[in-house]
Amino acid sequence: MALTGVLRPGYIQVRVTDIDAALKHYVDRVGLHEVSREADGRVYLRAWDEFDRHSIVLRPADTAGMDYVGFKVAAESDLDAYARRIEEHGTEVEEVPSGEQPGLGRRLSFDVPTGHRIELFSDMALSEHGPMTQNPEIWDDEPHGMRVTRFDHCNLHGPNIDGVVEFFTNVLDFSLTEAAETPDGVAAAFLSCSNKAHDVAFIRRAEPAKFHHVAFSLDSWHEVGQAADIIARYDIPLDIGPTRHGITRGQTIYFFDPSGNGNEVFSGGFIYYPDNPKRSWSIDKIGKAVFYYQRELNERFMSVVT
Ligand SMILES: [Fe+2]
Repeated sequence: MALTGVLRPGYIQVRVTDIDAALKHYVDRVGLHEVSREADGRVYLRAWDEFDRHSIVLRPADTAGMDYVGFKVAAESDLDAYARRIEEHGTEVEEVPSGEQPGLGRRLSFDVPTGHRIELFSDMALSEHGPMTQNPEIWDDEPHGMRVTRFDHCNLHGPNIDGVVEFFTNVLDFSLTEAAETPDGVAAAFLSCSNKAHDVAFIRRAEPAKFHHVAFSLDSWHEVGQAADIIARYDIPLDIGPTRHGITRGQTIYFFDPSGNGNEVFSGGFIYYPDNPKRSWSIDKIGKAVFYYQRELNERFMSVVT
């Protein structure tokens, strides 16, 4: 398999209501590294195992939530090809000029059927402290806090999950790796552009453009336990975990940032290849699908979004 087209999640811009509290959380507790603070108030962060200049953008705002998530494409020419395909689909594409975020090239920005703003980019400056490439040590920036390795995916809630699956699979060339299905369509869709069990997830909800969580990867189940210790030690609001998902098989814990945005840190999950059959869950097994050990849904997990 050769990865072409859309490669991976690249960045996410999250709204926070108290930037100082957010930085304490994302830098000291989650373990991201601060890259820069810009004049417009946005703060740029990255995880220790990411090559790109930044992956997490915190924007001070009156309400929490997600502004947009950007996916990296393999080549500049892919941006033009995807712009044509998105427009042919009947979706308006906005071109955001290079430099709107420091180090980031031109990008495409558009709304998908769930109401979320999705972007594509091909060019981002590399971090000066990214993974070493010559006689590489394990890390350059020393891991701290929860020791998250990268921005892994986000989970978004909105209407028309069938429509967003059609868009991501037919227009952006993602695969639907796993789904919870009801008689009236897909209720939860896990979509991958890579070898991962998912690169983005969409869950059915009447209100459009809602943000459930941003997820960061950890190296091991042991580190999920260490994240739980940090969550308890600093009285970070816990959602659920440590536990495991039936869907994706990830080992996970969920908590909230000081603005109320959902966070997940997780390890594991199956490896996906494009010839693998889709995995399906029926709605009567949804408890086990979401929380494999508890086998029932947690009301807070299903209801809290920003
Ligand atoms: Fe997740």
